Amino acid sequence: MSTTSGPTFNRFESPHLENPYPLYGRIRREAPVFFDEALHLWIVSRYQDVRAVLMAPETFSSLNIFQSPVPPPPEVLEVLMQGPQGLPSLIDDDPPNHTRVRTLVGKAFAPQRFAALEPRIRALARSLLDAFAHEGQGDLVSRFTYPLPALVIGEIMGVPRSDMDQLKRWAEDLTLFTAGTASPQKQVECARSFVAFQRYLGELVQERRRKPKDDLVSAILQARHGEHAPMSDAELVNLLKNLHFAGHETTTNLLGNMLVLLLQEPERWRELQADRSLLPKAIEEALRMDSPVQGIMRTTTREVELGGERIPAGARLVILFASANRDENVFAEPERYNPHRADISKHLGFGLGIHYCIGAPLARIEARVALEMLGEQLRNLRLLPGEGFDYLPNFSHRGPRRLMVAWDPA
Ligand code: HEM
Repeated sequence: MSTTSGPTFNRFESPHLENPYPLYGRIRREAPVFFDEALHLWIVSRYQDVRAVLMAPETFSSLNIFQSPVPPPPEVLEVLMQGPQGLPSLIDDDPPNHTRVRTLVGKAFAPQRFAALEPRIRALARSLLDAFAHEGQGDLVSRFTYPLPALVIGEIMGVPRSDMDQLKRWAEDLTLFTAGTASPQKQVECARSFVAFQRYLGELVQERRRKPKDDLVSAILQARHGEHAPMSDAELVNLLKNLHFAGHETTTNLLGNMLVLLLQEPERWRELQADRSLLPKAIEEALRMDSPVQGIMRTTTREVELGGERIPAGARLVILFASANRDENVFAEPERYNPHRADISKHLGFGLGIHYCIGAPLARIEARVALEMLGEQLRNLRLLPGEGFDYLPNFSHRGPRRLMVAWDPA
């Protein structure tokens, strides 16, 4: 195997955990495609190479993207074997099955469905803010940016309100599980949550098959297209598990990252609140500057040349969206947050090609509504000085787990 030595991709160590961008910049300059011996992964950091990978799914497969480079301990595997065995679901699938599922799910994910949800998202945001607006200070992640997308995706999936807290706990365990940083005992607990979550979703799907409702699960079950076989229950369970995760963790992180960017320079926050028409572009620029999905895996199906390196068949790669989004060969002044930039639509924050984020229209609405409501309900919003953001140690996802702010209570 050709191994070009480069900087080690020690993303979880301070100061990279808090700010990985200088490390990404160094990698782009010194070794844009390199094999990290310790992680046993190829790291791809330049825009043109990340784009090339995204546009060639036949060479860069998405199968097994959630498989950790380090196999779980036997006691964790034992618990996982007790649950339904996983099938690929969109994000971790390749054509032709990916094409079939994307076509069927795409029918249920029509942007009009999300646009119609805007008043409901606003009502949910208002009820969350009403509960603490009088307090004058607090953690916006636990009170607002986490629960809002979780409630929205829960409602879209048709999960009863009374079960939402349970789902939230399972999803938290899933985040910890995929981060791969938990103790062996915690990993066993997380694996139990994972199995319980899958069983719950299995029951939800069977319930909708018996009694369809006006929700996403029923719409996907009913979706038909030409020769494509409809979704099976097992496929749908897996899809829902990923949707639940993809549908809130990422949006929470977009909101958190964006609020950090805006509140660290209060002038940016004031400008947005004075002219709300800037919000859509400000959201795109936050997706570029501090991408909630920093990177994702692919596996080569054949030997291939990328960025001047020969990569063997069967190699695993991490493509760094967040680094590509700061590539100086593509973006003018990439280190500057500038919602007025001409090249704003080029960012890869939602990916590109066949796996382009199916939930992007929903994420954009949620982010806009959340920021509008924050401006309206929490006057003079500002960061509390001296508080850290406690970033999640996770390869793919980046966002503050704590955002301590103050405001002038009404
Ligand atoms: C795919 C980012 C919100 C569901 C993706 C991909 C990215 C991404 C980068 C491409 C992955 C790849 O190429 O392998 C984001 C960000 C979000 C967000 C930054 C929020 C700001 C959502 C929401 C949902 C969702 C709200 C669901 C309601 C999905 C699904 C895929 C996907 C199902 C896989 C699509 C496919 O493989 O065809 N997302 N996402 N995402 N996203 Fe999102």
